[in-house]
Amino acid sequence: MKLLIATGNAHKLREIRQIFTMPGLEILGMEAFPDAPEVIEDGETFEANAVKKAVTLASVTGLWALADDSGLVVDVLDGAPGVYSARYAGEPVDYAANNSKLLAELADKPDRTARFRCAIALASPDGDVRVVDGSCKGRIGENLKGCEGFGYDPLFIPDGYDQTFAEMPAEEKNAISHRGRALARAESEWADLLG
Ligand code: IMP
Repeated sequence: MKLLIATGNAHKLREIRQIFTMPGLEILGMEAFPDAPEVIEDGETFEANAVKKAVTLASVTGLWALADDSGLVVDVLDGAPGVYSARYAGEPVDYAANNSKLLAELADKPDRTARFRCAIALASPDGDVRVVDGSCKGRIGENLKGCEGFGYDPLFIPDGYDQTFAEMPAEEKNAISHRGRALARAESEWADLLG
């Protein structure tokens, strides 16, 4: 089965390819569809944005489409940056600026607990859609560490670890990450559709 991954984010696509290795599944990136419309992520939840991306791209391409919407939820910041994680420090998306802003916001805050969240939506070409999610709890470090991964990885230390996601090999991050957990759920709940 062909499955389009409805994301322009090369880092997410790479992780999804690493994690989602069901036999018979042919994963396609958006490069095959250069004229596909950009989907505006204006939902108030990760689920709403994931559904919008998957349904739009499945309808435009006629393929089954899978979309990830994800972000970092920081408790003491009332859930920010949340669904605005990609553009926390403004346009265009700038991971370094986002991390600097997060460190500045937390400078005088002792509570640094946070979690990554990920919603994964799967849409059929005729508009059927289903969603699973995954999360990973942790805390925000005092400074940037490591150069693997992307986004907030150099600041995020998952519970039970002393290293940030950016200090871990990809397989270790994928085994416990919000995206890894959501995709594991997708693989078991949607085995009949994806097999
Ligand atoms: P989206 O394209 O709206 O889903 O944006 C997701 C944003 O959340 C990314 O640009 C990152 O800033 C952040 N994010 C999501 N997942 C991860 C991850 O696994 N590591 C680090 N940052 C992430």
